Amino acid sequence: MLVSAAEMLKKAKAGHYAVGQFNINNLEWTKAVLQTAQELNSPVILGVSEGAGKYMTGYTTIVGMVNGMIKEMNITVPVALHLDHGSYEHCYKCIEAGFSSIMFDGSHYSIEENVAKTTELVAAAHAKGISIEAEVGSIGGEEDGVIGMGECADPNECKQIADLGVDFLAAGIGNIHGKYPANWKGLSFETLDAVQQLTGDMPLVLHGGTGIPTDMIKKAITLGVAKINVNTECQLSFAAATRKYVEAGKDLEGKGFDPRKLLAPGFDAIKATVKEKMEIFGSVNQA
Ligand code: 13P
Repeated sequence: MLVSAAEMLKKAKAGHYAVGQFNINNLEWTKAVLQTAQELNSPVILGVSEGAGKYMTGYTTIVGMVNGMIKEMNITVPVALHLDHGSYEHCYKCIEAGFSSIMFDGSHYSIEENVAKTTELVAAAHAKGISIEAEVGSIGGEEDGVIGMGECADPNECKQIADLGVDFLAAGIGNIHGKYPANWKGLSFETLDAVQQLTGDMPLVLHGGTGIPTDMIKKAITLGVAKINVNTECQLSFAAATRKYVEAGKDLEGKGFDPRKLLAPGFDAIKATVKEKMEIFGSVNQA
């Protein structure tokens, strides 16, 4: 059964570790993440961007697939199904479809409008036992057409949004989606510290988990980060493993063209990336 992410992240913040949000794209992705979480006895959050939602034909398909896998694979660790960077309209679609968690990304609105829409969505989500993440200070990089400049959030605005009753909060601290450029200045721990001072127990979310050095991840966790989003890194490891298989001509040997064989190295690569992240985040054996 899917669970809201509120409890698992409260527990993570109190226990000084982080739960990974791994974005999914298809059946192989979802199966790889769930299987790894179960093997490592770790809670997990499956992230779905609006683009990936559309790709998989819609939110009800995803809810059906994930619920089916939880049952068929005997998954007993806590699993949340979470809309990533949702617009106002898509938050409602996911609440209706049976997601257990949503993110409303109102970071591109004025703070007044972000407050108004977040307030409404907190009530709608909580009425159904669904957790909700809000964002202050746009995360940099490009993801599914959502482009942010990598701002540092205003800690007072974070406090204002946190006080609306959201379950966890994404604050921009110089992080960006996708690969980090060579001249990246690193995370702003000053901003993170200031945000935590004002928001107290609120679990904080670090987007753009791909390519952040391990020491920075660990420091961010000590400063209140309890959820870390990873997307690009699984895509890169899947693509590299698939490339290796094809370049080695394996698809031309015997029945190597069978999708169950062709996609197997990529599947294993996703599992290895998820395992590595769960170990760094400290969520192993925290289910
Ligand atoms: P990356 O693609 O950089 O790992 O970021 C993922 C993310 O933050 C999803 O919201």
